[in-house]
Amino acid sequence: MGMIRTRLLKPDQIQEAAELLRQGQVVAFPTETVYGLGANALDPRAVEAIFAAKGRPQDNPLIVHIGSQNQVEELVREIPPEALLLMEKFWPGPLTLVLKKKDLVPDVVTAGLDTVAVRMPDHPAALELLRSTGFPLAAPSANISGRPSPTRAEHVYADLTGKIPAILDGGETGWGVESTVLDCTAEPFLLLRPGGVTLEDLRAVVPVQYGEPASGAKADQTPRSPGMKYRHYAPEALVFLVTGGAAAPKILELSEPYLKRGERVGVMTWNERTHLYPGLSVLPMGSEGDLEALAHSLYHLLRKADVLGLKALFIEGVSEDNLGLAIMNRLRKAANNREIRT
Ligand code: TXA
Ligand code: MG
Repeated sequence: MGMIRTRLLKPDQIQEAAELLRQGQVVAFPTETVYGLGANALDPRAVEAIFAAKGRPQDNPLIVHIGSQNQVEELVREIPPEALLLMEKFWPGPLTLVLKKKDLVPDVVTAGLDTVAVRMPDHPAALELLRSTGFPLAAPSANISGRPSPTRAEHVYADLTGKIPAILDGGETGWGVESTVLDCTAEPFLLLRPGGVTLEDLRAVVPVQYGEPASGAKADQTPRSPGMKYRHYAPEALVFLVTGGAAAPKILELSEPYLKRGERVGVMTWNERTHLYPGLSVLPMGSEGDLEALAHSLYHLLRKADVLGLKALFIEGVSEDNLGLAIMNRLRKAANNREIRT
């Protein structure tokens, strides 16, 4: 595939984005979580172009986005009553439900699984795009595979310019971490990826099981959520996640060899703790304990590590309550499970 010119479309140019999608092309668009790279979910050739642009492994299935709740019935064979409760409570919003698929959904979307992941995004531009084309959009996050997900049009541009025809610029996304993925074919429902709708939110409505997959799941096994086995959200720097009460002295100690070699070291820490790290490049996480604000800026901070040319990045762990579960899940992946407990 040769280089193509990537157009930046403004929100009043949604119709141009819709026209490209009708022609079977891919378009990046904003959602309330992160930017997605969309194509007609019912057109296998259009969907193949998503995998090509991202460099995404073929065995990692895509989420299908819909513009109205009744569209789900075209895509899935059955909806358990508990799943219906969740749709009514959390759609449109950052909750993806994995359900048994109908034959209409092409294999390339689901990587050959007999299930399909569906969500209705809560973003005016995404909903207008979906309603205008009339077909569902398969869309993974609009980053090069393995990089942090994009929360600004400029992140998409940095990764995919020359590879896709257009980016619909809707400004910064809201949540900043991806949707929650819930397998509704398991009993009880199984949380595959924590996200914007928290485990606490879900459990207030239905029973949900959750256990982190064993780290480094073998490539030859078929995991329940195929995306989980890949390295994710990773900047170029070597990333370390440091948890516990004595994080600061540990980080200073581990930084020393890098600093002695004249290499730049970064630390992600709460605003109130930045003074603990003289000599390090500080990426402030926001005011202490504000998990919403941290989720919102998380991927921007990870991308900044690259811009700053950091050799190593130390990240202070946060609480795993509420949105913290999604944040720590992403941080563990960014750190490739290099976790230091103090
Ligand atoms: O917030 C989001 O979910 C964003 C926006 C664009 O909607 N999308 C997103 O897509 O994060 P992606 O492709 O980066 O992540 C989709 C996740 C992957 O972990 C994938 O393995 C899982 O959902 N998934 C998709 N279909 C599945 C299925 N049928 N069964 C199990 N897991 C599935
Ligand atoms: Mg992704």
